[in-house]
Amino acid sequence: MNSHDTRIIRDSKVLSSMTRSAIAEGKTVGLVPTMGYLHEGHASLIRAARAKCDFVVVSDFVNPTQFGPTEDYATYPRDEAADLALCAACGADVLFIPDVAMLYPNGQDSTWVEVSRLGTILCGASRPGHFRGVATVVTKLLMISRADYAFFGEKDYQQLTILRRMVADLGSPCEIIGMPIVREADGLALSSRNVRLTPASRIEALALHRGLEMARDSYLAGERSVQKLIATAQSEIDLQPDAKIDYISIADADTLDISTDDAGSRPLMLMAVRFGSVRLIDNMKLFA
Ligand code: PAJ
Repeated sequence: MNSHDTRIIRDSKVLSSMTRSAIAEGKTVGLVPTMGYLHEGHASLIRAARAKCDFVVVSDFVNPTQFGPTEDYATYPRDEAADLALCAACGADVLFIPDVAMLYPNGQDSTWVEVSRLGTILCGASRPGHFRGVATVVTKLLMISRADYAFFGEKDYQQLTILRRMVADLGSPCEIIGMPIVREADGLALSSRNVRLTPASRIEALALHRGLEMARDSYLAGERSVQKLIATAQSEIDLQPDAKIDYISIADADTLDISTDDAGSRPLMLMAVRFGSVRLIDNMKLFA
């Protein structure tokens, strides 16, 4: 049911003037950046924005600069009509759908937001340039939308940490709000890429959540060895014939400093695992 009249806007100047008017009326602006093919994880962010802000903008843009040359940019799933229906059901005011030329008017000969150390570890190690693409596009979206608040999921925990650092480093007045991971009833973290899993891989992929839970239970029972905690999660994933581990790491939940020996008091376990061409990420705080 469409509970709200969500307007599709494709021109960044039109969006900027809409939010300028909203702000002049004393309204707060909330932004939910996405790459579309929206699911309940995205919906949780849009509902949080609706609850906190007067004017809610969702962006739907498959950002080419955050994909590597061998990654799935061309095959990334898209469904504009379904995205609009979900935005309306969650009460968004605007669904912003720019094309590539709108956000990158000078193509590759562009201005970039470089991410330092945080962009080179974990997902940044296997996806060079990925977080530079993310930081750059989110900066553009923050500036175009004039958002007071921007909402991101803990599903992409490293992205969330990098964007919090980015607004602090660049002096952006926007506040970054993190929201918990939304999972299927069986534990799989919702992702637009899940539709590309084969039925067999879909079952094997449950090992990510199981492995994280086993590591968390072990930590809560007193285990502090990073090596042992990682081995616990890894053994569960190694049982899956089609799973190829990209990384499993433990880092401090606030700084993302990688732990090598003692897990410390605020450990977060993060992992990326491939099933054929589909790369899934997941994470969990190990502490209570
Ligand atoms: P996308 O993968 O579409 O995700 C958009 C937002 O939804 C991100 O903040 C992500 O963390 C959140 N999200 C995805 N799955 C979730 C889940 N299961 N539970 C909670 N939140 C979830 O992340 C991106 O797009 C892009 O990198 C973007 C920030 C839009 C920049 O291009």
